[in-house]
Amino acid sequence: MKIATTLIHIGRDTGRFEGLVNPPICRASTILQPDLASFNAAASNKQQNLYYGRFGTQTSKLLEKACCELDEGHGAVLFPSGLAAIAHVLRTWAEPGSHYLVVDSVYGPVRDFCENELRRLGVDVTWYAPTSGKGIKSLMRPETRLVYCESPGSLTFELQDLREISKVSAEHGAITVADNTWATPYFFKPLDSGIDISIQSASKYLAGHSDVMMGIAVSNERCWPMLKRSSALYGNAVSPDDCYTVLRGLRTLGVRLDRHYSNALQIATWLSEREEVSSVLYPALETHPDHALWQRDFQGASGLLGVEFVPSVSSKAVDELVDRLSLFGIGVSWGGFESLAIPSHPRRSPFAAPRGSLLRLHIGLEDVNDLLDDLESSLDQCIRSAVASRDIFSDNTT
Ligand SMILES: Cc1ncc(COP(=O)(O)O)c(C=O)c1O
Repeated sequence: MKIATTLIHIGRDTGRFEGLVNPPICRASTILQPDLASFNAAASNKQQNLYYGRFGTQTSKLLEKACCELDEGHGAVLFPSGLAAIAHVLRTWAEPGSHYLVVDSVYGPVRDFCENELRRLGVDVTWYAPTSGKGIKSLMRPETRLVYCESPGSLTFELQDLREISKVSAEHGAITVADNTWATPYFFKPLDSGIDISIQSASKYLAGHSDVMMGIAVSNERCWPMLKRSSALYGNAVSPDDCYTVLRGLRTLGVRLDRHYSNALQIATWLSEREEVSSVLYPALETHPDHALWQRDFQGASGLLGVEFVPSVSSKAVDELVDRLSLFGIGVSWGGFESLAIPSHPRRSPFAAPRGSLLRLHIGLEDVNDLLDDLESSLDQCIRSAVASRDIFSDNTT
């Protein structure tokens, strides 16, 4: 079965729900059993059976099953947000005296978690370059327990060679975890490349409508017992209403992502030809430094990309551009049906050259010609008024 078909059929149980196309929202804390024998049977595997609302109801179990099938994993756990999923996994393998390797281009709040919570728990963290690939070997130590990846990296969009990284990590007895929010399993399945746990912020493409927060961790067989156990120990639970919303989002994930991809590719190509743009950070473009890796591993690209302006374009001019755009909303997050634009400010990294001003765009499902018109007129006006006020080439020129 091709993934577009899988997305329609997974996580449904029409037989059990008397023909309902979508499973109902099953809310519960207490779940009654007909007799004590059934109660004891349910208690013997609380995450599998219907036992108590904290361990999930029919709705959440169907979503877990769907996510597990999509990623071809062994088990899945749902979390109240993407960051909660990442923090939970990082904490689960943490031991005083242990060592983690974390990619330098990681989503900012994950860096904060590593620098504060992990260090407090006694974990030593080494930041590694996103382009390291099998070069992480020289950073591995006997006490390295976990290698954390995010591909492409947040804001800077470098791809990682997850095959090589997970191979080296496994040889050293560590586990490898990857944030796959950008691609989703529709475009890339990390477990196929040897990753042990694949994490997604379902608040983005899986839900797809900017109206729900959720995170998902899908594990292979090796890591599943530990992940399942820690999830129960920490009392992690999500709302069945949110599960219903994400299950509904899954049905259109493929068609939405196909459209995000074709719109984003057209816009990325067009932007890369503008004279005020020095590069477009989008791995599906041939000019992207990791394009070959993208071609090897990915079936497509989503709607999030970065635009780097030539050094002479000031950050003020980029701010003005964002304010002028009329079809691009100004707000955090991404992965919904709508287009968004914000100036982005990656931290200065020892692994990357200093950059010109950056803009992050999320390309939504609008007609691409309207988006192009909006970008063109805003860029033209912005540049013209910046030139008139002699501002365009101000703060970065020397
Ligand atoms: C790449 C990436 N991973 C994880 C997260 C965190 O997800 P959430 O906002 O659902 O906590 C985000 C949020 O922007 C993200 O961009």
